[in-house]
Amino acid sequence: MTEILNADAAGLARAAALLSQGGLVAFPTETVYGLGGDARSDLAVARIFEAKGRPRFNPLIVHVADMTMAKEVALFDARAERVAGAFWPGPLTLVLPLRSGARISDLVTAGLSTVAVRMPAHPVARALLSAFGGPVAAPSANPSGKVSPTRAEHVIAGLSGLIAAVVDGGPCAVGVESTILGLTGDPELLRPGGIPAEALEACLGTPLPEGGSAAKPSAPGQLASHYAPSAPIRLGATRPEPRELWIGFGPDARGADLNLSLTGDLVEAAANLFHFLREADARTEGTIAVSPIPERGLGRAINDRLRRAAAPRH
Ligand code: TXA
Ligand code: MG
Repeated sequence: MTEILNADAAGLARAAALLSQGGLVAFPTETVYGLGGDARSDLAVARIFEAKGRPRFNPLIVHVADMTMAKEVALFDARAERVAGAFWPGPLTLVLPLRSGARISDLVTAGLSTVAVRMPAHPVARALLSAFGGPVAAPSANPSGKVSPTRAEHVIAGLSGLIAAVVDGGPCAVGVESTILGLTGDPELLRPGGIPAEALEACLGTPLPEGGSAAKPSAPGQLASHYAPSAPIRLGATRPEPRELWIGFGPDARGADLNLSLTGDLVEAAANLFHFLREADARTEGTIAVSPIPERGLGRAINDRLRRAAAPRH
C-alpha cells in the first residue's frame, strides 16, 4: 500500500522516516513530482529503477536542501557558485565533478565521476530534504516511458503499490523538468527546462552550445566515459574458466568469487552491480566472468549495463 501523506509536519516526518529506512517517497518539486530515495543507499536507488521499470541505469539527479549539502556532494568552481547563487533554489540542475568521499551510490551517477545536483525551490521539497537531512536521488515519479507527473494523483495512477508513499503538495507550478547545465568542461546545455538558456548565458557571460551534437551524445547513458572495468568481461558464464574472476548470480553460483544475489533477487543484484564490478576489476588481472542474469524487471537494466561494460573499447 502506498501511503498518501499530507504536506504538514506529521506527513513530512513520516516521509523522512520512510526515506531513512530506504523506502521510496514521491514528493512535489516546482517542476514535476520526483520519486525520491536516499542517494547514499544502493538498495534504495535500485528500488527507484525497479519501481519506474527503467530498462537502463541512466544517472539520476541528487536533490539537496542547501549549499552545505550540495558541496558535500559535488565540487563547485567559480562558475558553479555563480549560477547556483543566481538560480538556486530553482529549476536548474548542475552537472559537476563528484566530490571524492561523497558516499553517493554508484547507481545514482551510473559510475561516472560527475554528478547532477539540484536545489529545488518547492517549499514541500525543501522541508522534506531538511527533515531527512541528506541527499535524495529523484527522477520524475512516473513509470518509464510515461508522462511526468505534476499532481499526486498522477503519481498514484502510475506507481501505486510500488512505492512507500507520496507527499501530496498540490499541482506543480513549472510543469517541465529542470534545465540541466553541464559545468565539468566548457559550459553546455544538456537539457532545456524550467530556466531559459538565455538567462544562463547572461549569468555566465558566454553562449551555451547544446550538448547532443554528433560529437557528444546527449543521453549520458551512451557516453563512452561511462564507467567500465579495465578487465575484459565475459557474459553468460555458468562457470568460470581457469583464472577468471567469477561474479555469480543466484544459488547455482554458490562457488562464485562474488555473488550479486545468492537468492536471485534482482533488486539486491542491481544494488551490488557497480561496486562488484569495481571490486572484481581491482582483484583480477584476467577476465571477469558474469553469470547469466534473467531478462526481466531490473535484470534488463543490469544486462544493459553489463553489455556496455563487455563491449569492445577504444
Ligand atoms: O525537474 C527535474 O529535474 C526532475 C525533478 C524530480 O527534480 N527530475 C528529473 O530527473 O527530471 P530525471 O532522472 O528524469 O532526469 C535526470 C537527467 C537525465 O537526463 C540524466 O541523463 C541527467 O539528468 N544526468 C544525471 N546525471 C548526469 C551526469 N552525471 N551527467 C550528465 N547528465 C546527467
Ligand atoms: Mg523523467
